[in-house]
Formats: sequence, C-alpha cells, structure tokens
Amino acid sequence: MTQQTKIHASLRTVRWENNTVIMIDQTKLPNKLVHVRYKNYKDVANAIRTLVVRGAPAIGVAGAFGLALAALQSNASTKENLLQELEKAKKVLFETRPTAINLAWGLERIIKIANQGNDVSEIKQAVIEEAKRMAIEDIQTNMKMGKHGAELFENNDTIMTHCNAGALATVGYGTALGVIRATKESGKQIKVIVTETRPVMQGSRLTAFELKHDNIDVSLIPDTAVGYVMSKGLVTKVIVGADRILRTGHVYNKIGTYQIAVMAQQHKIPFYVAAPLSTFDLKSNPEDVIIEQRKSSEVTTIAGKKTAPEDIGVINPAFDMTTPELVTGIITEAGIAKPPYAESIKKLFESRL
Ligand code: MRU
Repeated sequence: MTQQTKIHASLRTVRWENNTVIMIDQTKLPNKLVHVRYKNYKDVANAIRTLVVRGAPAIGVAGAFGLALAALQSNASTKENLLQELEKAKKVLFETRPTAINLAWGLERIIKIANQGNDVSEIKQAVIEEAKRMAIEDIQTNMKMGKHGAELFENNDTIMTHCNAGALATVGYGTALGVIRATKESGKQIKVIVTETRPVMQGSRLTAFELKHDNIDVSLIPDTAVGYVMSKGLVTKVIVGADRILRTGHVYNKIGTYQIAVMAQQHKIPFYVAAPLSTFDLKSNPEDVIIEQRKSSEVTTIAGKKTAPEDIGVINPAFDMTTPELVTGIITEAGIAKPPYAESIKKLFESRL
C-alpha cells in the first residue's frame, strides 16, 4: 500500500463490515478521528440528519447502506412485505436532507435491485451487495473525475475551494478535492485556499484537515476574505463540489458558493464544479428544488457558546444556486461539460448509453 492509498483508506467515510455500517463521525473532526457503528437504519437516518456523515455522494451511499440494514433487520416472510418495509425505510432516510440528489439516487438504486429479487433471502443479499458496489464505484468515479479535472489545472495554480468536497464528502478520494489530489499526483505544484464555510465550518474542520493530512499546501481564510484574496491576485482558479446540478447547468452547493462564483467572474477567475453523474437531476427546474433550512443555533452559537442576542430572527439556508453563466466548466467521470450546458450535459449522458 502506498502512502497515498493509506491516507485515502484511513479517510474511508462510510463502509459495510460484519453486517453493520461504519462511519467516521465528522462532527468530531478535526479534534478526534472517531468511527461509529450502526445496526439500525433509523440511526443511519439520524447520522445523515445530524451531519455525522455529510456531502452529497457520501449520503447517497450512506442511504443505500441504511436500506441494506433495513432489509437485514426485517422479519418479513414474503417479498411483498419486505418491499413494503423497504419503502417505509426509504421515506425515513429520504426525508433527512432534501437538497442533495445523490440521496434519492442511492435509495432508488437499492429499491430497484430489491424489486428484481425473487424472494426474501435473495433480496437481502442483493441489496447488501449493491450498496457495497456503490461504495467501490464512488471511489473509482472520483479517481476518473480527478484525471479529467487535473488537465484544467497548471503548475503553480492557487486553487480556492469552499466547504468540503473531499474524501470525507464521498466514500473516498473526493470530487473537487479529488481533482486537487490528482493535479498534485500528476506532478504539478499547487496551493489551496479554503474558506472556513460558516456556519458548520466544513472548510476549516474537514477540508483543511484532509489537505494537511495529504501534505498539500493549504491556507484557511474567513468566508469574508474571498473578495480580498481574489482582488490581490492570490487565486488563479476555483473548484467546488455540488449537491445537485440541473440539465441547464444550474449548480446547487454549500451556501456561499454563489457569492464566490460572482466574485470569481468579477475577477476573471475560472470557476469549476466537480461532480459525478449521480449528482445530476435532469428532470427538475430551479423552482422545484428544495433548499434545506437548518436550525438557528448553527448561526447563533460558536462551539456551543452564544454569539447572538436571545430570540434573534435567523435565516440559515444550507445551500444556494449558482447560475450557469458563472460556471466555466463541470468536471464529471464522463468528461468535462462546457457552456452551453443544455447541450454538453445531454452529450455526457448520451456518451454513457
Ligand atoms: O451540508 P453538507 O456538508 O452536506 O454540504 C456539502 C456540500 O455542499 C458539498 O460541497 C457537496 O455535497 C459536494 S460533496 C462532494
């Protein structure tokens, strides 16, 4: 095992072992690297809701493992009863986080496999195998995406990223950070600037932790310093992940992405998005997408300490939408889509048929 592989293996976000689901508890990072083990799908649902596991591809696979647990726990004696129980579990898991399309994708993929099974024991086996396959595919997909994306980055680039679209947001390797890793692995010298990503601090707690872990040169900035570092010429490219991308190229990602994209356009800095095809939602329009609103205490406290007056009104959306004209390119495992996105995204999907 090479040093790189060891690091990626040690940051394996979610996995299946001895009929249980094991996850890194991301709420404890960067202070403690703690693993948690779940035997019940309701606990997996709670882990998704409370950000023990987060990041669109990671919650897609976590949801699939949750359904595998639901199948395994079931006492149903007929296929019909088992399918009914799985539908119920799907609903519980689905309702945890509404914006990342990967969750629905992961759950649907398991339900489809379950429907194809002939009897209870065959279905149980098939859903576990499918969820495990999805976890392996996730890492392979990210590595392919990394190879495509690395071509867009040059020696001595300083790349800004937001939130965490790394190994911790996927099963391993990462989407935006996968591209950064692949660029470094291709021999180019790069530096990374990461935003703290208030209010949950995925940038400082997770991305800074991952990049330091991989010996990649990383500087942390407050979210409010994006304009400053861009205006000083300290950023040459931006790359972020996505929770959902529409067929028109509208990108949903962590709150704050939109203002970074606007600022990048103002300073003529290319703005890239890296996401697997499982993050695309080819059916919805912007008005259909639900933006998750999270609890006010994320904004009114820091590390459990109150930083705002009692009973203050709070607006705390978890995601925002970046419009296609702000996006220079979308990197996927099937290649890179460039504007006009309605055409290029369609072509990427057709190339997979
Ligand atoms: O609220 P989170 O931490 O789940 O939000 C994560 C993001 O917005 C990521 O950028 C996105 O899921 C892409 S992860 C590869």
